Amino acid sequence: MGDILTLTQKALKDIDESASSIELESLRLQYLGKKGSISLLLQSIGAMPLQKRGQFGSDVNVAKNKISTQIQEKSKLIKEQLLEKKLQSEVLDLTLPGRKHNKGSLHPVTLTLNRINDFFISLGFEKVKGDEIEDEYHNFEALNIPKSHPARAMHDTFYFPDGRLLRTHTSSAQIHQMENNEPPHQVISPGRVYRCDSDLTHTPMFHQVEGLWIDKKITFANLLANLELFLKTFFEDEDLKIRARPSYFPFTEPSAEIDICCVMCEGEGCRVCSGSGWIEVLGCGMVHPNVLKMMKIDNNKYQGYAFGLGVERLAMLYYGISDLRLFFENDLRFLRQF
Ligand code: FA5
Ligand code: MG
Repeated sequence: MGDILTLTQKALKDIDESASSIELESLRLQYLGKKGSISLLLQSIGAMPLQKRGQFGSDVNVAKNKISTQIQEKSKLIKEQLLEKKLQSEVLDLTLPGRKHNKGSLHPVTLTLNRINDFFISLGFEKVKGDEIEDEYHNFEALNIPKSHPARAMHDTFYFPDGRLLRTHTSSAQIHQMENNEPPHQVISPGRVYRCDSDLTHTPMFHQVEGLWIDKKITFANLLANLELFLKTFFEDEDLKIRARPSYFPFTEPSAEIDICCVMCEGEGCRVCSGSGWIEVLGCGMVHPNVLKMMKIDNNKYQGYAFGLGVERLAMLYYGISDLRLFFENDLRFLRQF
């Protein structure tokens, strides 16, 4: 009896002091396993005098139940402690800010193109697509720029080995429009153009929007009025200073270039306007009779205007950017500002 009590107390103490499920399991084997202390006690019953067996057996069983219960409780406790620990180490702070996805934004040139297109569409122009790869006929000849014409040299053209070229202006889209459709024509054609040219206000690839309006009563006054309204709307400035300067394009007569007062220096003269106080934003004029004739349009019945505006130039002035090349470097610190 004394043995059983000592054994039980030692077992309960061991169990109480055990710190892990593994330790607990080895204690279970030590006391309750097939070859454990309790089992050995039970096996020793056979060697006992008969009258002692009943009492001894029930004492051992009481001890066995006590130990077994203690192990179960301790096991539960260890599991709970483990869970508690785990929960604490995996604490989730719901007040922390979430992971952000960077939002994309439209490129300032795209934003500018959209504003230009929207304005002319609101005046009744239809948007048509042009091709970036052209032949000499559409980029030059049909626009009254024959082979020997000095204007060809001014265009700094990129040629392909087969004689085709990257269009130097969107004016070639005028020709496709007139070839494929009957007058009247009231279209704009935005897109990329290419020239061998690079400095503060020139890049080898840039965007233009071509405009063409041919009908029975379209005059130079319409041209000036429409472009003036466009520039004032675009720059959101009713008092914007504009000047039309006589110019020359082989495909228009008369021809003009339109300058706006430099928005960087307000006309004082700066790096961007080369000290002149003015910046050229577009070329325009009345479609040349030779072009109309080549397009088989009766120039006694129809006449009209055309213009070509520089999109980067307008974007630069609208957003106050002093170097055109920033638009093409794709520096995210620059692009994220739009
Ligand atoms: C032309 O390209 C004519 N096709 C415009 C035209 C159309 C005249 C229809 C008459 C009728 P110009 O080369 O001047 O013209 O270019 C037009 C505009 O494009 C310029 O006013 C300028 O704003 C812009 N531009 C010209 N070269 C560059 C360049 N390298 N980089 C950025 N913008 C340019
Ligand atoms: Mg020019």
